Amino acid sequence: MDLSEAETEISLRERLRRKTAAAHERVDGLFGSADLSDEHGYGRFLLAQARAWESLRPRLDAGSIARADALRADLAALGLDRPRPLATSLPAKLSIGHLYVLEGSRLGSTLLLRDLAAASPSLARRAGAYLTESARIDAWRQLSTRLQMDQNGYDRADEIIDDALFVFALFERAWQATDSAHLKVS
Ligand code: HEM
Repeated sequence: MDLSEAETEISLRERLRRKTAAAHERVDGLFGSADLSDEHGYGRFLLAQARAWESLRPRLDAGSIARADALRADLAALGLDRPRPLATSLPAKLSIGHLYVLEGSRLGSTLLLRDLAAASPSLARRAGAYLTESARIDAWRQLSTRLQMDQNGYDRADEIIDDALFVFALFERAWQATDSAHLKVS
């Protein structure tokens, strides 16, 4: 790949952050629009997240499976059915670009958990497992360090960025699919 000097001076981590900033803004806007203070709004948030995680489930590592399982438990606690996966063709193995998004998505969780606990302590107690599990960020720290140090990723940077955008797009689609789905929360 032909890179300018300026591009080689920034880490793969920083390139990913810049190239996916617009995609992050979109999912932040969508998922952030859920009203966590009532069961319907929080249920929609969880269902949309679950649709994305269920779609990726066959490729997840242990840390992500723990999050996906916590989501299943939260849905069960609210009496919601587990959503069907989206129709998508998954990569044979998740790349560092895919993982960047999945691990990075932990970063908003502490904030969201705090909002949920403030808005609805009983929902946080009954169905806060996913956000609690997601607030563990050790794996993110390790991945972020790897991405900052990575000097070899440049020849694959476009591919890695595409992989990251694929995951963001999946979460966006998951929200849209949930938006139009019938929510059974009363
Ligand atoms: C309510 C929704 C969301 C909120 C409030 C939120 C909030 C945040 C916050 C506060 C950060 C840390 C920013 C920083 O330290 O500079 C962050 C980072 C990040 N989030 Fe989100 N987020 C949300 C949804 C998502 C979703 C759905 C995904 C992906 C599926 C995602 C992926 C990421 C990634 C990859 C980063 C790391 C960006 C970097 O390179 O620093 N976020 N988010």
